[in-house]
Amino acid sequence: MATQDGSVVTPQQRQFEQFVSKAIRVQHPICMVKARGARMWDESGREYLDFAGSISSLNVGHCHPRVVRAVQEQAERLIHTTINVTYHQGFLDLAENLCRMVPISGDKRAMLTNSGSEAVEAAVKAARQFTGRSGVITFTGGYHGKTFLALGMTSQTHPYKSGLEPFPPEIHPFPYPDPDHCPFCKDPSTCSHDALTLLEQGFSNVVPSERVAAVVVEPVQGEGGIIVPPADFLPRLREICRSRGILFIVDEIQTGLGRVGKMFAIDYYPGLDPDIVLIGKSLGAGLPISAAVGRAAIMDAPESGSIGSTFSGNPVAAAAALQVLQIVDEENLPERAMEIGAICMERLSRLATQHPRISSVRGLGAMIGIELVRDRKSREPWKEGVQHVLAKAQSRGLILPIAGIWENVVRLLMPLVITPEELDRGLAILEEALVETLSEGD
Ligand SMILES: Cc1ncc(COP(=O)(O)O)c(C=O)c1O
Repeated sequence: MATQDGSVVTPQQRQFEQFVSKAIRVQHPICMVKARGARMWDESGREYLDFAGSISSLNVGHCHPRVVRAVQEQAERLIHTTINVTYHQGFLDLAENLCRMVPISGDKRAMLTNSGSEAVEAAVKAARQFTGRSGVITFTGGYHGKTFLALGMTSQTHPYKSGLEPFPPEIHPFPYPDPDHCPFCKDPSTCSHDALTLLEQGFSNVVPSERVAAVVVEPVQGEGGIIVPPADFLPRLREICRSRGILFIVDEIQTGLGRVGKMFAIDYYPGLDPDIVLIGKSLGAGLPISAAVGRAAIMDAPESGSIGSTFSGNPVAAAAALQVLQIVDEENLPERAMEIGAICMERLSRLATQHPRISSVRGLGAMIGIELVRDRKSREPWKEGVQHVLAKAQSRGLILPIAGIWENVVRLLMPLVITPEELDRGLAILEEALVETLSEGD
């Protein structure tokens, strides 16, 4: 069916229009029917390269054969028994594996949940019950999910928070040190120091530290626009938490499982030793499963039965997750993330030197952001530019996601199993889409 302007409306777009809540935003209205590795195909058989990886949910790639086999075998044997009623082996094995691999010292325990938001909420519940304190410190630009507590901890107002107030109380956002947009408009090299000074001052003029249960922080902000903080930020933040009896919770939901060139972003900081680490997204290779893993005493603080839901740690999702942990390790995906990242940074940084409206290319491992601005001096965000890049790339067969508080960042989160040829082809499309957009202007 064609519209008045001649564009074709697909049956799926009609279904979406008629039956799906407009609260759901689809960046690329194409109906995918098949996917493998870093490729997807629509119903006409057209192939797309996937540089979105379902927002870092597919580090091991689409339909990894080992995941498919494990899921099939598990579905034949036992699709579900809720952990609230009986044990199943996958839940126990996954909890054990996660406890063994997460870089936290001493005895650990895991809570399995269904989504990143639920893992965030479970961790805050544990922190509150362990410390007997209620305050939670978060950071501007941070994203922790869309359920109510997680949303209260999320920074972006539109489209996420506006009109949904009030949020749970006792959440206190402080500035995240963003070297590209130093919140203090000074030398970016001092913004970590300034952010932490403001936080320390906040214990006198915002919330007393003895009322704060936890700091929850992303080691690299994802939705916020791929913001890599200065190297001293997390270690110094950890020290502040330690000295004041505040729990240090690291949200690795987007950064974890190889994405940034190590198993976890916190592996870049030996001795950081957080209290709780949150894992989600890529853990299930597309199936819904997440986890909060932390010190035993903290994770045991909530009353028995108070955490966990009907499907948390479901047998099929747990079977997929057990495979994912092995694949990330055996296929050296953290190393691969570093290689992918180096190639992307080299090519895109070269482009940025020729085009002032690419204000920055930044990232860690294979988590990369390309920020577009109307002019490099004013740094006014160029959201429309990003939309043009996405549309042009899609028409050439490349799927890209957006990021950033002002939605002016093109983000790269491709599956880490992408082949060199696919990466090269995808980057060539991205470069073409960028150059075309930049030469056309507004
Ligand atoms: C860092 C971070 N935390 C939490 C979440 C929420 O995860 P979910 O969408 O699975 O609830 C996300 C999702 O993008 C995330 O990137």
